Amino acid sequence: MVISIGCDHIVTNIKNEVVNYLTSKGHKVIDNGTSNLVRTHYPIYGKLTAEQVVNGEADLGIVICGTGVGITNSATKIKGARTALVRDVETARYSREQLGINVLGLGGRITGMGLMENIIDVFLETEFNPTEENKKLIAQLDSLIDNDLANGDDHFFDEFIEKWDKGLYHD
Ligand code: RB5
Repeated sequence: MVISIGCDHIVTNIKNEVVNYLTSKGHKVIDNGTSNLVRTHYPIYGKLTAEQVVNGEADLGIVICGTGVGITNSATKIKGARTALVRDVETARYSREQLGINVLGLGGRITGMGLMENIIDVFLETEFNPTEENKKLIAQLDSLIDNDLANGDDHFFDEFIEKWDKGLYHD
């Protein structure tokens, strides 16, 4: 697989470890940086990484900052990127299998290297399992980025609320 990766200066060394881990598993890595410890602006790397996934240069993306919150938040603003900040293996599996997450967010100062490796393994090994329901749900989530679609539409979520009420979704 081709994996695009980006990080901020807080976790450059951890990002390098993740790159080595991915390479050792036979993946090709596009390392967007940052590459040193000089203070930088994490949205740059979140955006770059997500864009490479969306435009097909990479199969999947991984973004890492201290908490993971900032860089994941920036990556998710790129249309077509579906992101999740993940701190456990089950969330990695669920987000990939049910929501087709294509950019994984990690908090390098929060989650230990061993657990991050396990999360990455599950993220890369789990296939998206498309169903009529989750495809519709994902399409709607994706469309939220086009603010004008949801803005002022009081009934934007009606179909989904109705299905919740009928017990058609199980979490
Ligand atoms: C540093 O810029 C810090 O804010 C960042 O690494 C991250 O923890 C944000 O969520």
